[in-house]
Amino acid sequence: MDILKKIQDHREQAEELKWEGTFAEYLELLKEQPYLAQSAHSRVYNMVKDAGVVEEHDHKKFKFFDDDIYGLDEAMEKLVEEYFHPAARRLDVRKRILLLMGPVSGGKSTLVNLLKRGLEKYSYTDRGAVFAIKGCPMHEDPLHLIPNHMREEFHEHYGIRIEGSLSPLNTMRVEKEYSGRIEDVLVERIFFSEDKRTGIGTFSPSDPKSQDIADLTGSIDFSTIAKYGSESDPRAYRFDGELNKANRGIMEFQEMLKCDEKFLWHLLSLTQEGNFKAGRFALISADELIIAHTNEAEYRSFIANKKNEALHSRMIVMPVPYNLKVSQEERIYEKMIRESDIRDVHIAPHTLRVAAMFTILTRLKDSKKASIDVLKKMRLYDGEILEGFSDVDVEELKKEFSDEGMSGIDPRYVINRISSTIIKKELTSINALDVLRSLKDGLSSHASISSDDKDRYLDFISLARKEYDEIAKKEVQKAFVYSYEESAITLMDNYLDNVEAYCNKAKLRDPLTGEELNPDERLMRSIEEQIGVSENAKKAFREEILIRISAYARKGKKFDYQSHERLREAIQKKLFADLKDVVKITTSTKTPDERQLKKINEVVATLVDEHGYNSSSANELLKYVGSLLNR
Ligand SMILES: Nc1ncnc2c1ncn2[C@@H]1O[C@H](COP(=O)(O)OP(=O)(O)OP(=O)(O)O)[C@@H](O)[C@H]1O
Ligand SMILES: [Mg+2]
Repeated sequence: MDILKKIQDHREQAEELKWEGTFAEYLELLKEQPYLAQSAHSRVYNMVKDAGVVEEHDHKKFKFFDDDIYGLDEAMEKLVEEYFHPAARRLDVRKRILLLMGPVSGGKSTLVNLLKRGLEKYSYTDRGAVFAIKGCPMHEDPLHLIPNHMREEFHEHYGIRIEGSLSPLNTMRVEKEYSGRIEDVLVERIFFSEDKRTGIGTFSPSDPKSQDIADLTGSIDFSTIAKYGSESDPRAYRFDGELNKANRGIMEFQEMLKCDEKFLWHLLSLTQEGNFKAGRFALISADELIIAHTNEAEYRSFIANKKNEALHSRMIVMPVPYNLKVSQEERIYEKMIRESDIRDVHIAPHTLRVAAMFTILTRLKDSKKASIDVLKKMRLYDGEILEGFSDVDVEELKKEFSDEGMSGIDPRYVINRISSTIIKKELTSINALDVLRSLKDGLSSHASISSDDKDRYLDFISLARKEYDEIAKKEVQKAFVYSYEESAITLMDNYLDNVEAYCNKAKLRDPLTGEELNPDERLMRSIEEQIGVSENAKKAFREEILIRISAYARKGKKFDYQSHERLREAIQKKLFADLKDVVKITTSTKTPDERQLKKINEVVATLVDEHGYNSSSANELLKYVGSLLNR
């Protein structure tokens, strides 16, 4: 089986990457590859950078986030350039806790997970390799073995700065196991793994009364005190708190502001001084990137409390707002659905897009510019080109509100509504109207929506519905024209024959009876009127077409249905106008005739074959468009 082979390959690869040697040998390695001694912050930054950076219009887009985080390019740029980058260069921001602040289900946990999983993988690469003192529960940096007084010289020699002091446990081990000979201390390459508790840690607050600081900083191992004789013997201590285990990598602090203060103070000293206190030992140095996350309400109440000032000044807050692009929101839903148990349900085309329009509308703030309504803003943000607006306008719009994207409907609400509708109604297929209805019904039971917001949101539902109506009509028109490509060609040939006769003041010959006929004025006008050619302009229009045809003929090119943009549009519109009647009749009479049914079936087939519908969603679409046309 393929999967077993892959597992084996992975094991073999990991085996090959293993490295073990003495500290002396490790120093040799560092001469060649000094970057191996990089700090945790620097490793995270390089991981992000190594995945690739695209620079466009003064902005950097970091590919690292591409597959998992959608529509937050600017927030990610800020995070990397204002935190990871300076922190990697040992600037002061590194000494602050990184606090991601954003609205519910706006992707904070997704982002942290991405960094954690990324770092696990990165530790298998050359540039991301990590080495540690062998047998140390905190995988301590081997360079801590270099005594303080020699570090300046070391820096001159190797160009590497050493921070932090050797932990009590390793100090003792060097004495007892290596008789003080640091050059003999064994060093090994380690690979980050949250499951194995190496270099990646997570702390999640529980009931403050029962939660023990040991979860963070480790604890005394009472079973071994007798053996080592004293509580202050580091060998009688288990360095297995999250702070210990996350050393050299990332530590995630979930719901940080819900946490009891005594836990937070440990973080303060860790970030500020690079060390923390455990049991009865001297301070323990640790090198890790601490990421916490919280929502805005919690953050506000946290900073409102004077007591938290000291903590607050030691945090750096990075906003993680909601995505504001319709097309990216659609991708978020697609991803969430792929990961859910409704992935087998047929979702009619445009369904998620229409839901996304609604969601984005709830997140946008009304611009003060008179020329911009909220729909235009939605389109511009999504990169659509609208007449009269430039990139500069879009940048200005984005600057108008600093907290745009911090409120509105969250993606989880949308997915929950979609799944509950599917499950409750036992649907096998769902369309945009079903989803809008369900989003609307859910608003009253949504806990955090005020009644003002609710009214606004209801308006957005109708706006999204109107957008859908347009999309639906266009879709049917397109399908119809497609299934009638042949009719389009026939209609055009017919039109051209008539135009030719008209311009040459000639007669046409009926192909069946051979009878001579005058040009069919009604037919020609019915097509020309579709694109607004007036009675006065018709002659010029027809002559222009004839000239075009002869120009084509001279060059030996064939004038066809695609050759004249406006004529093509006219023909398509004429065909669609004919369809309108068919759709109207078929949806309003219970007994369409055979010819009408045949037409409808052909359009349904096109919708299924070419546009991603199934037969039930295609029929629903036609019915709906029929009812729109009947209004
Ligand atoms: N910008 C985004 N890009 C990709 N996925 C997103 C984005 N925003 C939200 N999601 C998706 O929405 C869901 C919720 O996101 P996540 O759990 O990361 O949010 P959160 O900010 O941690 O929320 P909470 O505050 O509830 O903990 C996830 O399935 C995530 O993939
Ligand atoms: Mg979360």
